[in-house]
Amino acid sequence: MRTQVGIIGAGPAGLLLSHLLYLQGIESVIIESRTREEIEGTIRAGVLEQGTVDLMNQMGVGVRMMKEGHFHEGFELRFNGTGHRVNVHELTGGKYVTVYAQHEVIKDLVAARLQAGGQIYFNVGDVSLHDVDTSAPKIRFRPNKDGELQEIACDYIAGCDGFHGPSRPAIPQSVRKEYQKIYPFSWLGVLVEAPPSSHELIYANHEQGFALVSTRSPQIQRLYLQVDAKDHIDNWSDDRIWSELHTRLETKDGFKLIEGPIFQKGIVSMRSFVCDPMQYGRLFLAGDAAHIVPPTGAKGLNLAAADVQVLARGLEAFYKAGKTDILNRYTEICLRRIWKAERFSWFMTTMLHRDMGHTPFERGIQLAELDYVTSSRAASTSLAENYIGLPMEF
Ligand code: FAD
Ligand code: DHB
Repeated sequence: MRTQVGIIGAGPAGLLLSHLLYLQGIESVIIESRTREEIEGTIRAGVLEQGTVDLMNQMGVGVRMMKEGHFHEGFELRFNGTGHRVNVHELTGGKYVTVYAQHEVIKDLVAARLQAGGQIYFNVGDVSLHDVDTSAPKIRFRPNKDGELQEIACDYIAGCDGFHGPSRPAIPQSVRKEYQKIYPFSWLGVLVEAPPSSHELIYANHEQGFALVSTRSPQIQRLYLQVDAKDHIDNWSDDRIWSELHTRLETKDGFKLIEGPIFQKGIVSMRSFVCDPMQYGRLFLAGDAAHIVPPTGAKGLNLAAADVQVLARGLEAFYKAGKTDILNRYTEICLRRIWKAERFSWFMTTMLHRDMGHTPFERGIQLAELDYVTSSRAASTSLAENYIGLPMEF
């Protein structure tokens, strides 16, 4: 089999890239190790930056998002039992915080790819990359995990296979520099059958730890709790989750958290990670394959969308004009924005979580930071600008 761009992974990065290339008349084939049902059912991100929403609309895949998504003008930072609203809409000149679940984005993109005749091989096994430092790179895989090994000969390979995929290790270790921070806490996330407790998102810092109130639909809430990095989901009965959420979200003016049946729960670890370079020969990494942020800044999916816009632009310049200048600068263009998102995600995480190793002095600094970003217009503007997404710079 031959294609112009072989894409490994049908997450947001791989699917967006494939459709962006299609819109420019460039062929691609996606291979994905999970089934369609699995990728369309995995609960992950919820918040889309304005740039990601604009991109989806420009690509013609935003119709359902515009109908079913939730458009918020701000969010709340809650500490010392008091809520402080950050008016993102006003502070960023009219932008919105969009809440639309990642698996809905995936459903919309898979449908759009298949409708346009795009090739996606789901449920593949034994994926390997070959000759990435030559002009004829190849991907090998086994269809349906146990079929005969197949080969895709490509001009370029896009490694969109997430943090644990085989693409990043295909860059020799001697070339790769990796930067990492692992946090001593995790997020316990639940889906709850109940109407929203709040119209907008609430990020709460409490003596007992962080809590987050988000939404999915008029009938479903998404709630998160900070737990210890070594904790296990079996330690968290529904009663314990509710008790902790009530404590951490309590306000002096009587906030009411609406309860309902918990129908999904899980724990995700928190890390910051950057791989430099994001390219090697004809292999380009995009999204979680190249970088990870802790979820507090809601940046992961949005960074994946930003990377593939740069990559699609570079590939377009190559195929239409024979130019490789954007492709050559891919790492440099992407990392400039990625490091700022890494900084913001780290900042939000350290400001909002309780680090039990903190001295009383460090706790004082944390509360001062929260007070500052909610009371100074300059600091609130910086927070809002980063939360809504920094501009793309080529
Ligand atoms: P992935 O979504 O990981 O996709 C990679 C794909 O590659 C997967 O489908 C995988 O099955 C496939 N794959 C792996 N190995 C192979 C292989 N060998 N062969 C073929 N395919 C392979 N981000 C935000 O922007 N906003 C948020 O609000 C937000 N909240 C989050 C909340 C939680 C609880 C979590 C866990 C994450 C959150 N994120 C958020 C982060 C976001 O989900 C990720 O950053 C995003 O999924 C990255 O997209 P991706 O396409 O790079 O990688
Ligand atoms: C959600 C996830 C986030 O990481 C975040 O910062 C806000 C909301 C969510 O899943 O809804």
